[in-house]
Amino acid sequence: MKKMLELRNHMQIPTIGFGTYKSTQARDIKEFEDAIRAGNRYFDTASFYGNEEKLGSVLNASNLPRESFQIASKVWKEEMGYENTLNACKASLKRLQMNYIDVYLVHWPKADIQDENWKVKLLDTWKAMEECYEAGLVKAIGVSNFLPHHLDVIMEKAKVQPMINQLEFHPGYIQAEAVLYSQKNDIVVQAWSPLGRTKLFEDPLLVELAEKYQVSVAQICLRFAIQQQVMPLPKSSNYERMLNNLDVFHFEIQEEDMERIQKMPQTGWSGEHPDRERVKFL
Ligand code: A2P
Repeated sequence: MKKMLELRNHMQIPTIGFGTYKSTQARDIKEFEDAIRAGNRYFDTASFYGNEEKLGSVLNASNLPRESFQIASKVWKEEMGYENTLNACKASLKRLQMNYIDVYLVHWPKADIQDENWKVKLLDTWKAMEECYEAGLVKAIGVSNFLPHHLDVIMEKAKVQPMINQLEFHPGYIQAEAVLYSQKNDIVVQAWSPLGRTKLFEDPLLVELAEKYQVSVAQICLRFAIQQQVMPLPKSSNYERMLNNLDVFHFEIQEEDMERIQKMPQTGWSGEHPDRERVKFL
């Protein structure tokens, strides 16, 4: 199993990254330091997460040369539009205290799900993304939470095609159509919440497979993603679990078990959908 993925512009990214959503507490600094020490070299943040400054400070203060790690950030819904996106990119760079961002994504396809003219705003946003890319402010551009009909809007008009699509993806919510459509169009898929935010840890099938392969349920989830060429971005605030999440290259899930996971009923969905109001679970 390769430990790097290649984007359509030939940039290489690791097979696993570190998710940072909800890391905004004081403990973040230790969490980020631990994440580096555990071996993570790809860090996924967003302007919406409110932690770019802290993450940037920790990375800049580490002894890692800039080219030895990668950082991803995202344009938030309210930052969409041509001028706004150019400004958002510069603001993220400033908060990160860096002179380039490795991967820059459009966080959601629609700034407002009621807006019938969402395509116009999205294309204006993408134009600015292309300019940031061409100016070298960002080394790769892509999207997040895009279904095929959102991707089509960009792909029909783009000068620079999207290189990444980051989706909610985990056993019990595999978004097969969006994953296959992205991959068919040479767009690398990343998984947010690849562990289903702990909602999968007692699932009988996953527990059975964890025992069979002598690994944790988290490792089953991550390996499941990797075997479909999906790059997982697990979050953890615990050093031992960070190590556990990177230790997924010593076993392989057999094809018949992959199929069993693929056929699981919907489990652990966050309730988020790019075209609908968020569903809140009790
Ligand atoms: P913790 O921070 O205590 O490690 P997701 O990435 O799907 O959003 O899930 C994140 C959640 O999964 C966090 O609550 C995290 O808790 C937990 N987690 C991360 N890695 C592991 C692991 N290897 N085993 C058990 N729980 C984990």
